[in-house]
This record gives sequence, C-alpha cells and structure tokens, in this order.
Amino acid sequence: MIRAGVIGYPISHSKSPYIHGYWLKKYGIDGEYKTYEIRPETLETDIHDLVHAGVSGFNVTLPHKQNMMGLCQTLTDEARLIGAVNTVTVLKNGDLHGDNTDAFGFTQNLEKTIPGFDWTKKTATVIGAGGAARAVLYALSQKAVPEVRITNRTQESAENLAQLYHANTFQWKDRDESVSGADLIINTTSLGMKGQNPLDINLSGIQENSVVYDIVYTPLITPFLHQAQNEGARIVTGIGMLLHQARPGFNAWFGHAPTVTDELENLILGV
Ligand code: ATR
Repeated sequence: MIRAGVIGYPISHSKSPYIHGYWLKKYGIDGEYKTYEIRPETLETDIHDLVHAGVSGFNVTLPHKQNMMGLCQTLTDEARLIGAVNTVTVLKNGDLHGDNTDAFGFTQNLEKTIPGFDWTKKTATVIGAGGAARAVLYALSQKAVPEVRITNRTQESAENLAQLYHANTFQWKDRDESVSGADLIINTTSLGMKGQNPLDINLSGIQENSVVYDIVYTPLITPFLHQAQNEGARIVTGIGMLLHQARPGFNAWFGHAPTVTDELENLILGV
C-alpha cells in the first residue's frame, strides 16, 4: 500500500485527507493519506521516522512550511523563490524533494474558472504581502503579467516583494487607487474569512470585464467578491486553489494525475 499524509501542528483542521481520500477512492488506488501531528521541536526526528516508516511523501502545513526547506535535499524553483515547502516527495535514495504547489494551484484555478484568460495583457493588483502573496507573485511573474501592483498594511513587506518581482507598491491608505484601472485583483490576506473583518477596499474603479480573485474560501463568496459581482466583475473563489494545489503531490505519490470536479468541490465545502 502506498502511504502519504500531511504534517502540521495543529493538524485536525486540515482538509487535505478529504481531498486525497476522495481521489484514492475514485481511482481505486490501494493507498492511504493520514494526518501527522508534528510539533516544531521534533520536526527533524519525526520526519526521519516518517521516512523510515516508508511514506512516499507528504504535504506540509503550518507551522512547518518554512522550516521544511532546510530539511529537503533538493528544492524546486517554486519552493526556493516562494520561500516555503508545501509538498515533499521521498526519492528512491531517501532524499527529500521539496516543492511549493500554491502558485500552480492559483494559476490552474483561474484558468479553469476563466477559460482563455490572457495573462500577458493584464494589470494585476495583489492585496497583501504574506506567504500567500509570495506564491501569487511568483505565479504572475511566471505568466509574464506586464504590470503588477502590491498594496499591504505593512509597507515594508510590500516593498521587499515589489523589489523581487519588479512590481509597484501603493500605500495601504491608497489601496483604492491600487485597484483603479486594474483588470486582475487578488486578495491574498485572510480578511473576509469567517470570524474576521471584511477587506475594506473600494472596487468601483476597476476595469470593465476585470477578474477579482479571493484566496479565502470560507465563506465561498466573501464580502470582497460580493462587491466585485456588484461591479460586474468576473469572480474566482478560493476553493479551487486549495484543490488544484493538491494535484501534483497526489500524482507524485500515487502515480495518477487527479482531476478537480464539482463533486469534489462540494464535498470539501461541506467538511
Ligand atoms: P499568509 O501566509 O496566509 O499569507 P501571513 O503571512 O500572516 O499569512 O500574511 C497575512 C497578510 O494579511 C499580510 O499581508 C497582512 O498584512 P501585514 O503584512 O501588515 O501583517 C495581511 N493582514 C492580516 N490582517 C490584516 C488586517 N487586519 N488589515 C490589513 N491587512 C491584514
């Protein structure tokens, strides 16, 4: 039996077992995908034990995404540039290969939702400058988006990322201007999530036919996306990013390229 899982602390909230469990059943694969609660203090020894127990690989969630980088013998460009590992594959010689599939998930979700979307003619505004923003900015640079803007509450973080990705920054107090004339606007902060304040930004200046994307998926339609719909924008919800980022790991560990379906999306939204 092929074994994989997800490491984190805490780990009980993870939706990954439901995603991979759905695919294992759907494709009739003799495999398992479990949660592994691993504390930061014992990360290295617990990973060692996991590899010795014969897992094919694992997903990595909070708080290990950065520290996992140092435990991988090889890293993809994505993991190195985003500065975090979310998918690890155990190679034949026991080496750990670290990847970050969040940028892939971000891109796939948009392209599946908005078929024919032409990245190379867009002005994109990224709201936020944390871990998720790093993955989104990496994706935008890979897609050769010609103009990228960043606005973030802490200006210094915005400037650091802007330098890396040749983007322009807008002060947080000027965030309404940062979306003016933009045709792809992405919320990478956790604002708007259930229990959090909504993202306070005015979308009335956005380009006609623009695309507004929220990485938050609880609720599926955040107040930010609601506002976008009222402005006539096309919206992209965050659930697809979660589902698509899981695909490369499943393929690497279980040897089957999985697909994201409405049935899977509804299942995950319900758990
Ligand atoms: P993640 O890894 O999910 O991106 P993170 O690295 O903690 O999480 O980043 C959270 C992002 O949400 C940051 O851009 C943060 O802004 P700061 O850099 O100023 O901290 C933003 N954020 C969180 N709470 C916020 C709030 N109440 N108002 C504005 N921005 C907020």
